[in-house]
Amino acid sequence: MTGTPVWAQLAYLVAAVCFVLALKGLSSPKHARKGNLLGAFGAVLACVTVFFYAELDHLVWILLAIAVGSVVGAVGAQRVQMTQMPQLVALFNGVGGGAAALVALLELGDIAGAGEEVGGFTLAATAFTIVVGSVSFSGSLVTFAKLQELMTSRPVVFPGLPVAFAAALLGGVVLSVLTVTDPAVPTGVLLALIGLLLGVLLVLPVGGADVPIVISLLNAFTGLTVAAGGYVLDNTVLLVAGTLVGASGTFLTKLMAAAMGRSVGNILFGALKGGSTLGAGVASDRPVRSAGAEDVAILLGYAHKVIIVPGYGLAVAQAQHTLRELVDVLGERGIEVGYAIHPVAGRMPGHMNVLLAEAQVPYEQLKEMDDINGEFKQTDVVLVVGANDVVNPAAKTTPGAPIYGMPILNADEAQQIVFLKRSMRPGFAGIENELLFDPKTTLLFGDAKDTLGKLLSAVKGL
Ligand code: TAP
Repeated sequence: MTGTPVWAQLAYLVAAVCFVLALKGLSSPKHARKGNLLGAFGAVLACVTVFFYAELDHLVWILLAIAVGSVVGAVGAQRVQMTQMPQLVALFNGVGGGAAALVALLELGDIAGAGEEVGGFTLAATAFTIVVGSVSFSGSLVTFAKLQELMTSRPVVFPGLPVAFAAALLGGVVLSVLTVTDPAVPTGVLLALIGLLLGVLLVLPVGGADVPIVISLLNAFTGLTVAAGGYVLDNTVLLVAGTLVGASGTFLTKLMAAAMGRSVGNILFGALKGGSTLGAGVASDRPVRSAGAEDVAILLGYAHKVIIVPGYGLAVAQAQHTLRELVDVLGERGIEVGYAIHPVAGRMPGHMNVLLAEAQVPYEQLKEMDDINGEFKQTDVVLVVGANDVVNPAAKTTPGAPIYGMPILNADEAQQIVFLKRSMRPGFAGIENELLFDPKTTLLFGDAKDTLGKLLSAVKGL
């Protein structure tokens, strides 16, 4: 890298290694905390290094911006509830994409102003950073608004949307070519505006349950934008970090889509082909069998093997500590208990792992779907705590259902199934769950923290 002293290049290399090791650490709950710290250290090292070798203009403004960003980021991250994490990720990601687009615009201004001969590839990377960074910024803001319920979380589709999207895409290509052939700031600004429009049009038709996947996709976009920005600015560490984010974001998007039995194309454009990606979300009034905590405690008392299926409602109720206590008490009574973790239970990747880790549940008790699905047949009681879609047999039996094709936990194969939920309202996909009406199923109605507390007392009193 020209102009960068060797010591700074070495510091960048150390930062890049930290990023790679951070990703490795994050792949297992045991090392995730260390991985996160290592990644943060790499980022701080990379940021500090630049202050010691580059001749920076507007130093006061830069320091002021860093101070404001750090305070807002730290306070926001501390205050956010676990269930609001996807929104926070969307915001942080959008800001990253927007910042990369602004830096590329400034760089374009310098290139156009200096009138120097600049390579076509650098100009193409500049145009890419402007347009994709803008897509990421506006798209992330719409995903934030959807998840925060500042707007409807249902797909927003209007006549002419596909045409508007195609026209904006074409406009983006034309302006990108113009930026390469005749670099000028007004063209760059127009390109950014087109990018902002594309981001909004891309995310509007996506339904609420699919939004976390689009956040991951936009995250990959931001990574690629930062990588291209690194090329433009001749900065290795940006190039490496951006590529890592781009690659891991792409993998995560594909894995999440596969876990929901969908293709990324279907998630993005499914609503355009007609029909919603979500069901009606209406509570059923069909009769079900419900019971009190004492009855369920007796059921558990006679069991040899129990499987817990945690879901989004467990996070809403913040009942993870009470659940862990219940499992401990059952374990002391000689009952074999394990947790079945569906890859998309909750609202973000690894949601249940993080939630249960917070309650100090040993990792060995958490079993992934493929590992535990064969065990339900030999299970006496399945306790479905605040979960719904992840055990809904419609995923296997009802073509056309929004979750059709999604692999599910085979809770229906157990001897007895107990649902802990507040009402007959459906899960995120908005469709009825036939398992609630199965003769083997019992419902224990109420907020999970409350019902688990009662269940715990009842089991202790057996
Ligand atoms: P859901 O299907 O959304 O079901 C959650 C259940 O929890 C609901 O039936 C709700 O019923 C109950 N609940 C809510 N608050 C509760 C409380 N305080 N106490 C007791 N119960 C409560 O959740 P799931 O089974 O975890 O499935 C996740 C869904 O999110 C899937 O459709 C998945 O595709 C989608 N999704 C997940 C992800 C990731 S990465 N995790 C990403 C995108 C989409 P009541 O209202 O009757 O209580």
